[in-house]
Amino acid sequence: MAWDPQQYLKFREQRFAPFEDLVSLIQPRPGMRGVDLGCGTGELTARLLERLPGSQLLGMDSSAEMLARASALAGPQLSFAKQDLRGLEGEWDLLFSHAALQWVDEHERLIPELFARLTWGGQLAVQMPANDDHYTHAALREVAGEAPFREALAGWVRTSPVLPVERYAELLFSCGAEHIHARLQVYGHVLEDADALLEWTRGTTMLPYIERLPAELQERFVSRYREKLRERFPQRPVFYAFKRILFAATRP
Ligand SMILES: C[S@@+](CC[C@H](N)C(=O)[O-])C[C@H]1O[C@@H](n2cnc3c(N)ncnc32)[C@H](O)[C@@H]1O
Repeated sequence: MAWDPQQYLKFREQRFAPFEDLVSLIQPRPGMRGVDLGCGTGELTARLLERLPGSQLLGMDSSAEMLARASALAGPQLSFAKQDLRGLEGEWDLLFSHAALQWVDEHERLIPELFARLTWGGQLAVQMPANDDHYTHAALREVAGEAPFREALAGWVRTSPVLPVERYAELLFSCGAEHIHARLQVYGHVLEDADALLEWTRGTTMLPYIERLPAELQERFVSRYREKLRERFPQRPVFYAFKRILFAATRP
């Protein structure tokens, strides 16, 4: 999927808001070797290194566009690799992922596979949006179901692989994890108006729809989506109640 870091970072402050909450779930240990799975532009990987001095971190992402920004941050303790996180190899003291695993399918399999890549005493710390039932997402599916988009997409709509929050706790327990923490948290963002919601989804959730549509339908899709958002959120400002799952666990 083609990412646009500039569009994504229009809401940097709001998108990075859960970072500190996630970092606080990690028990720092000296000399940790860790991976930031789906590191994007690498900004948060660099911030993670500041919070875990003496560590050695690898930022891994499949998007060349996002990683193009990351390379400037690389250094002796921080490197980046263009790689699909599903092919992760080796053993790690820390597997960290911020707003990325919602793009990877089959969490029932993915989470145990990641957990198995931890060293003894290694930690997994994950944050991902759980916002699929919000109107911003539902409206995308609705527009995708209307003509002529339905035909152009051959009926395709995106379904989120994110599981109910308690399922992550259960999966981690089945893996033999200890210090299991799993929670759903609402991050409330005050945005200017309905168009700001469109700008938000344009940087993320809308991307797979646009990339599947022929060029001549892309702007029409965006316009129809804008119309629906303006109808639903006529007020200014708009409060965006954004749900996210955070979980962490340790391999004994
Ligand atoms: C919403 S961005 C988050 C980036 C960064 N972690 C942050 O919080 O700013 C999601 C990132 O996950 C990456 N991603 C999605 N699926 C991936 C996969 N299978 N392997 C590696 N990276 C992936 C995307 O390329 C994208 O950069």
